[in-house]
Amino acid sequence: MTGAVLKAGVIGSPIDHSLSPHLHGFWLDEYKIDGEYLPFAVEPENLEAYLRGLADEGRRGTNVTLPHKETTLAIVDQADENARRVGAVNTVVVQNDGTLQGSNTDGFGFLENLKDHEPNWQASAGPAVVLGAGGAARAILIALQEEGAPEIRLLNRTKARAEELAKELGGSIEVYDWQDRAENLAEAQTLVNTTSLGMTGQARLEIDLKKLPENALVMDIVYAPLETELLSQAKQRGNLAVDGLGMLLHQARPGFAAWFGIEPEVTDALRNHILKIRAG
Ligand SMILES: NC(=O)c1ccc[n+]([C@@H]2O[C@H](COP(=O)([O-])OP(=O)(O)OC[C@H]3O[C@@H](n4cnc5c(N)ncnc54)[C@H](OP(=O)(O)O)[C@@H]3O)[C@@H](O)[C@H]2O)c1
Repeated sequence: MTGAVLKAGVIGSPIDHSLSPHLHGFWLDEYKIDGEYLPFAVEPENLEAYLRGLADEGRRGTNVTLPHKETTLAIVDQADENARRVGAVNTVVVQNDGTLQGSNTDGFGFLENLKDHEPNWQASAGPAVVLGAGGAARAILIALQEEGAPEIRLLNRTKARAEELAKELGGSIEVYDWQDRAENLAEAQTLVNTTSLGMTGQARLEIDLKKLPENALVMDIVYAPLETELLSQAKQRGNLAVDGLGMLLHQARPGFAAWFGIEPEVTDALRNHILKIRAG
C-alpha cells in the first residue's frame, strides 16, 4: 500500500441509474476507508481501452454492467470458471502484475441472499422452478446446479431461448412451456422469478401459486418494488418470500473486498440507505 486513495468504480452505458456507487460509498464511509468508487459511462468502442487503462489510472478494478458484461469476458486476461460458464464478467480486479482478473458475482449474490434470509434453505431439498432465461437466469441456474438442485424446471416466454440455455448448461435442467407455469410448481421447493415481469413499469407476472408446497421458498430478483406481487402472494399463503435487493447488495461484496481490503457486510442500515436513495 502506498497510502494513496484506493480507487474503483462501475462502468456501463447508461450508468446514471446505477446503485453501485451508493452501496460502495456506504461501505467506504462505514469502514472509514480512504477510497473512491465512481460511475463512468463507457461506450462499447472504448471498453477495451478503458479496461487496459485501469492500472495506469491507479484504479484497482471496476464493476461492469450493461452492455459490457459479455465483451469484458473476452478482454480480461484471466476469468474464473464461474464467469466463463455464465459467459459474462461483472467484476474486474487489476492484479499486482497489471493483468486483469474477471469474475461474475451474480450467482454468489443470489445464494448469499437466500442463505441470509433462510439459513436452512438447501437447493438439494427438491425441484427448483426458474422463470426466465435471460442474463440473470444464467448465473442463477448455474448457482442452483452447483448447490445440488436435483431438478430445475425452466420456463421462459420464448421457449427456444430456454432450450438453448438448458442445452448449453446441461445437467438437470428441463424446459417447459411458459403457459404451464402453475402446474410446474407441484413439489417444488424453490421458485425464482428472473424475468423483469412485476417490475415497476413492466407487465404483471401472472402465476397461480396453488400447487406450490407451503414450505417452498419464493424469490423474486426484481427489487423495484421491493415487495412484488409474487412475493406478497407467496407471503399470504405462508411461503417464505425473499426480495431481490439483497442479491444486488451481496453480489457487490467480493469486488469491495478485493479493491478495498475489507470483507463488507450487508446490514439493515445498508438496505435502508439504498432504499432511501432509490425512493429519491
Ligand atoms: N436483484 C439483482 O441483483 C438483479 C440482478 C440482475 C438482474 N436483475 C433484474 O432481473 C430482471 C431480468 O434481468 P436480465 O438481465 O436477465 O434481463 P434479460 O436478459 O433482458 O431477460 C429478461 C427476461 O424477462 C423475460 N420477459 C420480459 N418481458 C416479458 C413478458 N412480457 N412476458 C414474459 N417474459 C418476459 C424475458 O423473456 P424472453 O426471453 O421471452 O424475452 C427474459 O427471460 C430485471 O428486472 C433486472 O433488473 C436483478
